[in-house]
Amino acid sequence: MVVPLADGVHWVGVVDWGIKHFHGHELSTHRGTTYNAYLIVDEKIALVDTVWGRYTDEFLENLRTVIDPSKIDYVVANHSEPDHSGSMPALMKLCPNATVVASRQGVKSIPGHYHQEWNFKPVTTGDRISLGRRDLVFVEAGFLHWPDSMFTYLTGDAILMPNDAFGQHYATGFRFNDQVDACELEQEALKYYANILTPFSDKVIKKIDEVLAMNLPVSMICPSHGVLWRTDPMQIVHRYRQWAQQTPEKSAVVLYDTMWDATRRMAEAIAEGLHAAGVPHKLFHMAVSDRNDVIAEIFRAKAVVIGSPTLNNGLLPSIAPILEDVRGLKFKNKIGAAFGSYGWSGECVKQIESHFELCGIPLAAPGVRAKWQPTADDLAACRALGAQVAAAIRAS
Ligand code: FEO
Repeated sequence: MVVPLADGVHWVGVVDWGIKHFHGHELSTHRGTTYNAYLIVDEKIALVDTVWGRYTDEFLENLRTVIDPSKIDYVVANHSEPDHSGSMPALMKLCPNATVVASRQGVKSIPGHYHQEWNFKPVTTGDRISLGRRDLVFVEAGFLHWPDSMFTYLTGDAILMPNDAFGQHYATGFRFNDQVDACELEQEALKYYANILTPFSDKVIKKIDEVLAMNLPVSMICPSHGVLWRTDPMQIVHRYRQWAQQTPEKSAVVLYDTMWDATRRMAEAIAEGLHAAGVPHKLFHMAVSDRNDVIAEIFRAKAVVIGSPTLNNGLLPSIAPILEDVRGLKFKNKIGAAFGSYGWSGECVKQIESHFELCGIPLAAPGVRAKWQPTADDLAACRALGAQVAAAIRAS
């Protein structure tokens, strides 16, 4: 399917309704995704990005409904990750003389993926390529989200194609933001930011301010995943700038795993303390919760309270991945607390607190341990911990 965006500008991407995990199994995509590519037919013909290799046939069919692919003059690769560059080998066989335009890092990483001798042209911020009536203008956007990432802007129609930035893993029947459920769109855009862009938040602010200072008119923002921002396109730019500040809501996330319900009962007692203090909170049993959804909740919340029983002198294995995410995503402006039950050695709380220290997340209060099933005093200590976390949230 091809969707017209402006005179001679076409969406030629693919909707992937079925993908439920991205990057192998690293990122959940409950609502599928899209791989967006854009064809610009002017005196010269340019293609901005391709799609994941498994969808090459569908993608080439889209191109052929508009043009003969051998006529393509420029293939702009905004980002080398295979969900956007995967169809390049097949495409470049059809237009072997086309110029492959990429950032300075992109002209290094694309050959690393495909080992082909294409005609590469590195570009940097402010470089232009004239297509005839319109120009392509390039903005290097390193670390939004990979070092090679780049934005491409089409003059005349004022269309910004920022690749992964401003995207969402969101398969939909229609292509534009005003045609889909606004709550779903907000949820997917935030989940995408929280899980992919959080560690680069300082760079997001800098890049947004740099692009805003260029004073480019923007009629549409067309990312490489999800819907295109046609109605009030700058809303997502302002949301990103706000998210990049990492100013949390005055709320808490309590996440835990449990073997025989002792740590679960402690989690629920902590929740009672938060409830009594009137602080919004959510509990997640990590053995049955989606890690990426929980990351989105942590992103929004001020406090992260983590619990695990002690097993084999350590934590339950279901807790380890989320601890690694909390470290790698470099969350700012958080406070933490730990809890857990044990039978013999009881290292759980100490290990979680050490991890908070490693992540630069200060403790709201010392953690609570309970030997075997929690006693009434242990549960009272958990309620008190919830109250202390609530007080620290309020004071922030
Ligand atoms: Fe959508 Fe970084 O790839």
